[in-house]
Amino acid sequence: MKHVLEILEQRRQEAALGGGQARIDAQHKRGKLTARERIELLLDHGSFEEFDTFVQHRCTDFGMDQGAKIPGDGVVTGWGTVNGRTIYVFAKDFTVFGGSLSETHAAKITKLQDMALKNGAPIIGLFDAGGARIQEGVAALGGYGEVFQRNVLSSGVIPQISMIMGPCAGGDVYSPAMTDFIFMVKDTSYMFVTGPDVVKTVTNENVTAEELGGASVHATKSSVADRAYDNDVEALLQLRRLVDFLPSSNRDDVPEWPTFDETDRVDMSLDTLVPDNPNKPYDMKELILKVVDEGDFFEIQDVHAKNIITGFARIDGRSVGIVANQPMVLAGVLDSDASRKAARFVRFCDCFNIPLITFVDVPGFLPGTAQEYGGLIKHGAKLLYAYAEATVPKITIITRKAFGGAYVVMASKHLRGDVNYAWPSAQIAVMGAKGAVEIIFRQDLGDAQKIAERTKEYEDRFLSPFVAAERGYIDEVIMPHGTRRRIARALAALRHKVLENPWKKHDNIPL
Ligand code: HXC
Repeated sequence: MKHVLEILEQRRQEAALGGGQARIDAQHKRGKLTARERIELLLDHGSFEEFDTFVQHRCTDFGMDQGAKIPGDGVVTGWGTVNGRTIYVFAKDFTVFGGSLSETHAAKITKLQDMALKNGAPIIGLFDAGGARIQEGVAALGGYGEVFQRNVLSSGVIPQISMIMGPCAGGDVYSPAMTDFIFMVKDTSYMFVTGPDVVKTVTNENVTAEELGGASVHATKSSVADRAYDNDVEALLQLRRLVDFLPSSNRDDVPEWPTFDETDRVDMSLDTLVPDNPNKPYDMKELILKVVDEGDFFEIQDVHAKNIITGFARIDGRSVGIVANQPMVLAGVLDSDASRKAARFVRFCDCFNIPLITFVDVPGFLPGTAQEYGGLIKHGAKLLYAYAEATVPKITIITRKAFGGAYVVMASKHLRGDVNYAWPSAQIAVMGAKGAVEIIFRQDLGDAQKIAERTKEYEDRFLSPFVAAERGYIDEVIMPHGTRRRIARALAALRHKVLENPWKKHDNIPL
């Protein structure tokens, strides 16, 4: 008996070395942790249960039957806990064939995907891999197909999160693209469908890996990545933080954590947050941080389309999704990027029973050819659609401008907003005074005094919350300092909200 125990121990130790000490050292030299080190950091200490440690590839082509067979075959899979809650995790092992995906490697991942879906727990993939294992040809492609199919079936049922921690290509970017969130590590991770060498051959473009698919490109420009972190350790610790905000599946309620922040805490400084001059910006993030539990806000897409803010926070210990126009950037206008960013976030929250809090200060949609040619109509419609179909509790606070179509889009009463409040500084109108007067009093444009009078008349009548409040489009005009208490009470009242959309196979959001 002792002998077989020793054999097991020895085989485990061999497997733990992956592609060998030299490749582990190379991995460390590049500033990257190994697959097992990453899992250790992500999960609660000692909670990891590994599956399929001894799985090996079965490829015989291109001399693959001659070389060493490495137990685990380039991916470490299993489950563990994050702050006590079950998580399924797989980590690509770059030290084994560059983490590339073989038929057996794919089978390890699909086994895990099936378990996560069946048991209603999030699945996290840590990617550091070169796509399909070239020596396996179509068997590897088929393996990816199996993974992709499960990504889609799991979408909206369990949270799926991808962390990109090395150079990733081919299937190792497509599978993450179908998950809920993608995070990257700065300077060591890249995402591209094809690498710089292929780009050079096909398009004759000279481009570095960083320029083509580095974290700065994807977090800022393409919005493929939801955030980028400085190194592996920070990235994994932030991933733990994110998991704490998410329910385990669409059948679960949001997690509830203890909080020391009183729900009826008032913040008098909010009464002077909005400047008297309506054209002066202020930082909407200040409002978010002052309203949520302990100022704890996990921002999604923090450096892309900064004219809208999206992220998770808690009120009364329970998760909420926050969407807020940011007057500091482009006056908080809605453009294509902001609309797409917020629409995707709203839909995630609605999938997973996370109530939505919307803070509104929006002058409208951004005019111009650049936006129209880029499809603003369809992109703006995405956000409208997302809010309109959402059945989770929706609480809206208009702090200042809510003009035109953007007023309707931003979780208005007309889109089944449950509780819609406005601050006294709110201006709810079809457009700002200048634009309005120039259109409806065009005949007076040569007469400065008349225009000034008309402008004042328009401002007095329409640039306030009261016209909307008189119609019941705003449930109440509230004091800014009591915003947290109002939101907390509304959330408590909406806790058992029941609302269903008509039966359909699935909807047809304007993609
Ligand atoms: C087999 C691979 C591999 C792969 C890397 N390796 N990618 N082996 N199949 N796809 C091996 C290398 O041969 C090397 O082995 C080791 O992993 C480390 O790779 P390096 O190239 O030395 O590392 P680096 O310079 O950091 O470059 C990493 C890389 C590059 C950018 C990922 O390896 C690369 O471009 N790989 C190919 C990417 C690709 O085109 N994949 C196929 C995509 S098609 P040795 O023994 O020499 O150290 C695809 C289809 C999916 O995925 C379907 C989608 C719809």
